[in-house]
Amino acid sequence: MAFGLTGCGSLTNGKRIIRISHAQSETHPEHLGLLAFKEYVEENLGDKYEVEIFPNELLGSAQKAIELTQTGAIDFVVAGTANLETFADVYEIFSMPYLFDSEEIYKSVMQDTDYMEKIYESTDDAGFRVVTWYNAGTRNFYAKTPIRTPDDLKGLKIRVQQSPASVAMVNAFGAAASPMGFGEVYTAIQQNVIDGAENNELALTNNKHGEVAKYYSYNKHQMVPDMLVGNLKFLESLSPEEYQVFKDAAALSTEVEMAEWDKCVDEAKDIAQNQMGVEFIDVDVDAFKQKVLPLHEQMLKENPKIVDVYNHIQEINEKAKEGK
Ligand code: GCU
Repeated sequence: MAFGLTGCGSLTNGKRIIRISHAQSETHPEHLGLLAFKEYVEENLGDKYEVEIFPNELLGSAQKAIELTQTGAIDFVVAGTANLETFADVYEIFSMPYLFDSEEIYKSVMQDTDYMEKIYESTDDAGFRVVTWYNAGTRNFYAKTPIRTPDDLKGLKIRVQQSPASVAMVNAFGAAASPMGFGEVYTAIQQNVIDGAENNELALTNNKHGEVAKYYSYNKHQMVPDMLVGNLKFLESLSPEEYQVFKDAAALSTEVEMAEWDKCVDEAKDIAQNQMGVEFIDVDVDAFKQKVLPLHEQMLKENPKIVDVYNHIQEINEKAKEGK
């Protein structure tokens, strides 16, 4: 590998280099959040640590980079919860379609750090732990042909993340799920290996999918967060004061990322529509929801690890309804 990863503890000028891998471009909100993380760590612990950020899957796909984080070859990776499902069953909850009733509820659950900390510790056995989350918006279908009703998905080959729950969801919608890494999606659509995919709006612009798929339908099936995941041995090697600096840096990166997110989505929609010729389609969300709601029961039955967090989220959904 061009970067000469020599394993944990690599030093430059006496400083410990902290390597962070992510899959997005340098204009993506997550990269901007990570720059704030870097700045904060270096401002407070700059005599000991230097942070290096590797965007664009430079160190490999999310799955590969998780493995590198597991072994300590790198220290942090940003990965969607879909990629964490195979390490801790509880993360499957975020692949459940139509789990949160609104974006506000989603954000309030994710920002409840006391609650989330219990979930974050669930991968300790695998050698890594989540330190914060990033908003990755709402996922919607986009394809070469317009999807206006659930029937329009019939027979379409749709890329999903490498997550069994997302495979089940897309199949329940009536399409044929095709799991693959994020970096392969553009070419797969371009070469007609698949008909479309599902993601937030930034995939159209930051990842250029809008060049090859011209119809984006707001069916809003999932809100799947991205996680900043750290090598556990590294985190445990820090003094309590240093650990606090990394946690504060992580929280700050989330604040920056969330503020940037809203701006970037507005900008992405504008560029996709006016420069790339993507049509945004409003659909009857309820018609899509009805197709996949039976998955709730099924997933709860098959995976007891998600039951508590499911009930927790349903309570918040119900409270929000009562408040209206
Ligand atoms: C989004 C998300 C990534 C994820 C990707 C995907 O871009 O932020 O974490 O990997 O979708 O669909 O694979």
